[in-house]
Amino acid sequence: MKKRILTGDRTTGKLHLGHYVGSLQSRVALQHEYDTFILLADVQALTTHFENPSLIHQSILDVAIDNLSVGLDPNIVTVVQQSAVPAIAELTIFYSMLTTVNTLRHNPTIKSEAANYGYDDMTYGFLGYPVSQTADITFCKAHLVPVGEDQIPHLELSRKIVRRFNDLYQAEVLIEPQIMLSNCPRLVGLDGNAKMGKSLGNAVYLSDDADTVSKKVMSAVTDPSRIAKTDPGHPEICTVCAYHKVFNAPEYEDICTQCRAGAIGCVACKRNLAKKLNDLMDPFRERRAYYESHLDEVKQIIATGTEKACAVGNETVREVKSAMSVLL
Ligand code: TRP
Repeated sequence: MKKRILTGDRTTGKLHLGHYVGSLQSRVALQHEYDTFILLADVQALTTHFENPSLIHQSILDVAIDNLSVGLDPNIVTVVQQSAVPAIAELTIFYSMLTTVNTLRHNPTIKSEAANYGYDDMTYGFLGYPVSQTADITFCKAHLVPVGEDQIPHLELSRKIVRRFNDLYQAEVLIEPQIMLSNCPRLVGLDGNAKMGKSLGNAVYLSDDADTVSKKVMSAVTDPSRIAKTDPGHPEICTVCAYHKVFNAPEYEDICTQCRAGAIGCVACKRNLAKKLNDLMDPFRERRAYYESHLDEVKQIIATGTEKACAVGNETVREVKSAMSVLL
């Protein structure tokens, strides 16, 4: 039997290149080796967007199509709508008994997200989302979770909850999930911001057309000390260079050398990058066009995956309840 992967995205808008290099790329690479579950995290989307349910609703299909467009094969992966799997909600309740409020309060990702959203007080649901994320991962007994580095504190909590559960109830019911970090560091925003983010207005979306991608790249922030093409550049502080490293690795060293020598201008360097991004994204666009004109097929993929997830999750809940002696 193949080992299992579970990973997913909050359905709070379209996915971007940061998601691609952080997690989507590894999902595609591993889908044949692992039995892969992709979660459309619409409940977790509510933790910050509960006042905007129509965005969440629209994003369920958007995020599903984003995942399919990068090459996840619906014949082998299981696409799951979180809110439609009762086991996830049930497990969340049980795990919440094993998690202290202080552990959650000190979680660095929770802290920085709370600061980003301007929360000085938090809802119970927001504070507890790493607990429900543990339910996401364990309902299908996933072995491996490919995520970006901001998810490490949550995965560490998940591992702790699993160990505590198995230890306390003397059961080998749950599997301690392994974290799989992308080999690509967090993608900077083209505007020079330390992070690409939907809420930061600096994202290149997987659904952007070629023209939009070129325009975004052409307006990217480069080394401010370079006025003329012949001025020596500092690739280590240039966002365009950082992108070449990720999306144009074979030419990266050469581009840095030429930039330092003032032998290549920023415009040419940006045109080259835009071309590389569009070459990467053209196959995404082709698949997207297919799925966008076959929305019923996308809905069916989600329905089939969710049904399978419900069956798998019910079995896990049964084992969990039995271990906790709440089964009559
Ligand atoms: N919290 C993740 C994020 O913000 C999304 C997510 C929800 C997730 N459930 C998950 C990731 C389970 C991995 C496993 O990106």
